[in-house]
Amino acid sequence: MSSKRITTIGVVFGGRSVEHDVSIVTGQQVMRAFDKEQFEVVPIYIDRDGKWFTGDALRDLKSFEQPVHTLDGVQEVVLSPNTNHHGLIVNPLPSGLFGKSQIKRLDVIFPALHGTHGEDGTIQGLCELADIAYTGCGVLASALANDKIVSKVVLRQHSIPVLDAVSLSRAEWEQAPDRAVAHILSVLKFPVFVKPATLGSSIGVARADDEAMLRRHIDIASSFDRRILVEAAFTGGVEINCAVIGSDPDIEASVLEQPITWEEFLSFEAKYLQGGEGMKSAERIIPAPLTEAMTHEIQEIAVRAFQAIDGHGTARIDFLVEPETGEIYLNEINTLPGSLAFYLWQEKGMSARDVVEKLVKVAQAAQAEKRRNTYNYQTSLVSLTAARGLKGVKGTKHSTSAE
Ligand SMILES: Nc1ncnc2c1ncn2[C@@H]1O[C@H](COP(=O)(O)OP(=O)(O)O)[C@@H](O)[C@H]1O
Ligand SMILES: [Mg+2]
Repeated sequence: MSSKRITTIGVVFGGRSVEHDVSIVTGQQVMRAFDKEQFEVVPIYIDRDGKWFTGDALRDLKSFEQPVHTLDGVQEVVLSPNTNHHGLIVNPLPSGLFGKSQIKRLDVIFPALHGTHGEDGTIQGLCELADIAYTGCGVLASALANDKIVSKVVLRQHSIPVLDAVSLSRAEWEQAPDRAVAHILSVLKFPVFVKPATLGSSIGVARADDEAMLRRHIDIASSFDRRILVEAAFTGGVEINCAVIGSDPDIEASVLEQPITWEEFLSFEAKYLQGGEGMKSAERIIPAPLTEAMTHEIQEIAVRAFQAIDGHGTARIDFLVEPETGEIYLNEINTLPGSLAFYLWQEKGMSARDVVEKLVKVAQAAQAEKRRNTYNYQTSLVSLTAARGLKGVKGTKHSTSAE
């Protein structure tokens, strides 16, 4: 009998995001990837309204066809920010005679959420408060990569090629649309892409070929987000994605994929797939058909971009590329890509199990590193202030109460 300690992993999926359903699938893939001998996997599902649940039924995709609270053994939970709990409070609001709260301690949290409230630094912040190790990028890298406007500024500062763009706020647009259009057209030529700063899954993203379309698309994008990006369109190229894994200075790049976009899809299918191969293989070409030199250049930029945002764990980095001219632009960094891009690591001989185990190791190393920081700094401020009275203390004279 081995006395190896079992690590308890809370896999969080679902979430208050337009990518809720994709996240359920990613969550199931992640839970299945773990070796049950070494890990106890705790499913943690956040519904569309933001309620949290745990229970064995959440390990089955079919369970999500009905409201999960109706399922046997499924209980409400919250992830406690209290470091003493170090995990979940199960049944946080006990009701009825036998209702009782319990603590379920977690060693590591594995966010398998996409988009808002999951890929944007928010759940990462909760894990920080709880002082629990968590996989993937930290608060800063997550929030940065999720913001198409700020990430462009940071990447450009690190000499990573990005397309020219103009940003504007909803208020600027509503107050002076003509001025905004004039400014955009003084910097960019048509066609352009209009995007909400922080959504994913192409929601609100549209190409504008003239001024009327530009105005219409900004109207739409500004209904999704308070800040909008208008970017030069990259025409005639292809999309190329590259995943990275690890943490600085040990970051590895995956093989490249060329996802098939919808227009290309039909012609691609007509050309290559008449033999009746499954749709799945038609979604992407792996490895992407690029020269070795270009492949290396993209992998090198992907690693540098991950370092630039202080990335940890993994990300899938998406590029717009023109294979003929060798032009490469980084389009966006997805810190929690669908399926965690497991399929890209397979090509390098890394199974989904290898990927999740590596992410847990990186998470634990990051936590150990954090433990080296000093958070406690003893001063005599409080006792001195108590002795002198609050009156003279800077900033407290006109203290306002919280709203
Ligand atoms: N500047 C651009 N030029 C050409 N195509 C673009 C450009 N920006 C976005 N696209 C297309 O739109 C898609 C969605 O845009 P993206 O920035 O990736 O947003 P999302 O976060 O929603 O995935 C891209 O995958 C690409 O096909
Ligand atoms: Mg994208």
